[in-house]
Amino acid sequence: MDKKALHILVTGANGQLGLEFRELSERFPDIHFYFTSRQELDVCSRDAVMQFFETHPVDYCIHCAAYTAVDLAETERDAAMAGNAHAPAFVAEACAQHGAKLFHFSTDYVFNGTASAPYLPDAPVQPVNFYGATKLEGEQGVIRHCKDSVIIRTSWVYSYYGKNFVKTMLRLMQEREMIRVVSDQQGSPTYAADLARAVMHIITSKSFRPGVYHYCNSGVISWYQFAHAIAQHMQFTCRVEPIQTQDYPTPAKRPAYSALSTDSFQKTFQLTIPGWEDSLKQCLQIIRERG
Ligand SMILES: NC(=O)c1ccc[n+]([C@@H]2O[C@H](COP(=O)([O-])OP(=O)(O)OC[C@H]3O[C@@H](n4cnc5c(N)ncnc54)[C@H](OP(=O)(O)O)[C@@H]3O)[C@@H](O)[C@H]2O)c1
Repeated sequence: MDKKALHILVTGANGQLGLEFRELSERFPDIHFYFTSRQELDVCSRDAVMQFFETHPVDYCIHCAAYTAVDLAETERDAAMAGNAHAPAFVAEACAQHGAKLFHFSTDYVFNGTASAPYLPDAPVQPVNFYGATKLEGEQGVIRHCKDSVIIRTSWVYSYYGKNFVKTMLRLMQEREMIRVVSDQQGSPTYAADLARAVMHIITSKSFRPGVYHYCNSGVISWYQFAHAIAQHMQFTCRVEPIQTQDYPTPAKRPAYSALSTDSFQKTFQLTIPGWEDSLKQCLQIIRERG
């Protein structure tokens, strides 16, 4: 193995964000990536995590693995806690022991949703569902164990890969004449490819600076507006109608407003984040091209 090359571990590499890193990695032939799935590195096993770091050089760990089933987390509490609270602490501990820098991802669901302007990274946290509580505990574990960590809270993540709102909408819009989407929850979508590019920018520009940051595409919209834009760009005839959260009950409560302020991210890392609609168009184009 080339001793000069940068070594980057990507956990949860078969998830939507992990797969964006995989695709992006082709542009970095000088970097050695380890892409690990759950089968290759179960981050809920402290022993497995420690052993990986003992046997592989790691300069940066991009920790994409997580328990992301927001509604199921209400009942699968142990699994959610293991994946989102315990695992990040193991990864952070290993990074600290081996001098690796850590990128950890958290969520807008650490906030209670009562704000009316985008949340700053140091705004008070108060999760309204169990998933959010486990992700908050994960952040705290990362901070406790690894001083060289960048925690990125992100929101409404979508991609060509994996399961996400955009892909669900595309399917439903082709099956139905009309769909109803909640219009009283506001936030900002995040195109996972943009987020992956932003992380690689931090690494390659050597601008890593520990802290808690927010990353989402620019602009604040409702899920209804998001769905409406998808239908418009795809020129679907399916009607999109707004409904209220109370008419679409889910096991996990969602914050009514969870837009994130990305000012500190953009300033610290000298990066301009694309607007949500431009990024949505890009993703839809890729979905169209790849079928
Ligand atoms: N998706 C969103 O809207 C959203 C919003 C805010 C924040 N985030 C955060 O963004 C990050 C990336 O999320 P994502 O959207 O890419 O999620 P994702 O598509 O669900 O991917 C998560 C990946 O982690 C893997 N994983 C789960 N448990 C694991 C374990 N014990 N060991 C190794 N791998 C494991 C999963 O594998 P399996 O498929 O085998 O389970 C999956 O491939 C997460 O931290 C998430 O909490 C996501």
